[in-house]
Amino acid sequence: MLATSAAPDFSAARARVAQALDALCDRCLPAIGGPVGDAMRYSITGEGKRLRAVLVMSAYEACGGAGDVSPLAAAVEVVHAYSLVHDDLPCMDDDDLRRGRPTVHKAFGVPVATAAGMAMVPLAARAAWDAAQALGLDAGTSGEIVRVLMRASGAGGMIGGQLLDLEGECQRLSYEQLERIHRCKTGALIEASVELGARAACASSAHLAALGRYGRCIGLAFQIADDVLDVTATSDELGKTAGKDLAFQKSTYPALLGVDGALARAEALVEEGCAALADAGVLTPSLAATARYIVARRS
Ligand code: IPE
Ligand code: IPE
Ligand code: MG
Ligand code: MG
Ligand code: MG
Repeated sequence: MLATSAAPDFSAARARVAQALDALCDRCLPAIGGPVGDAMRYSITGEGKRLRAVLVMSAYEACGGAGDVSPLAAAVEVVHAYSLVHDDLPCMDDDDLRRGRPTVHKAFGVPVATAAGMAMVPLAARAAWDAAQALGLDAGTSGEIVRVLMRASGAGGMIGGQLLDLEGECQRLSYEQLERIHRCKTGALIEASVELGARAACASSAHLAALGRYGRCIGLAFQIADDVLDVTATSDELGKTAGKDLAFQKSTYPALLGVDGALARAEALVEEGCAALADAGVLTPSLAATARYIVARRS
């Protein structure tokens, strides 16, 4: 049942993560300063949906966490924002518009945008460590939290997927090849968001396993929906340039399965992810609504 098309009310969670992101920028960016510091703030505080942050918070609450996990959610959003800065560079997807504004390299130039993106990785690692410590987690768990975030961001996750994505331009990729790219470039960080929330709440291994399956399912569904929106939504709706995938001859789910086939695959993944949570007794209204929104969204 995927009838829900309205966005769930994320406004309270988004306000909390916006506050945590502002606090992180105020604490850490003055030491960097200059145009790179300005570009980092511009990127980090842009108007994103904050879905990864919402997932950290929802998973944390689902596993019984009772502290303020928003600084950890903010750390994930910093990695995500960095991925967008580099994704938009002329050597990657060459985009001018992001989150309804000029991309970072359009506003600050390519060298500053490149450096700002790179500087956001250690910033995120530090933010994740500080957030875990502030929650009272021991050094082992805090270190594991940083490791999960960095591993999802690295060559076996987001960065590796981005490279495969670039190498796949102008090629007819198989369904299996495309699924691998999507799971790496986008799915890995979304799966990590869910895992981080669970680890911060010291979840049981059964809950961690179920949330891992949910995260893998909705992470892939998220990029399938992104591919669909690239052909079905306008640049105004998206706040980024529509029609880019065709222009860059990327392999996409709608190209392989058609729009309806791609949406059906994404919806099946959402059902599978929610069923895994229900079986483990950890499906909350927020995790269910977020999963459904990932496919039903218009931006
Ligand atoms: C866009 O992510 C990049 C992808 C991984 C597809 P989002 O659609 O979550 O972007 P924001 O954060 O809302 O701008
Ligand atoms: C990007 O995928 C995934 C990232 C890791 C940023 P896309 O290139 O499709 O994302 P958009 O459509 O530019 O947001
Ligand atoms: Mg890309
Ligand atoms: Mg792109
Ligand atoms: Mg896209």
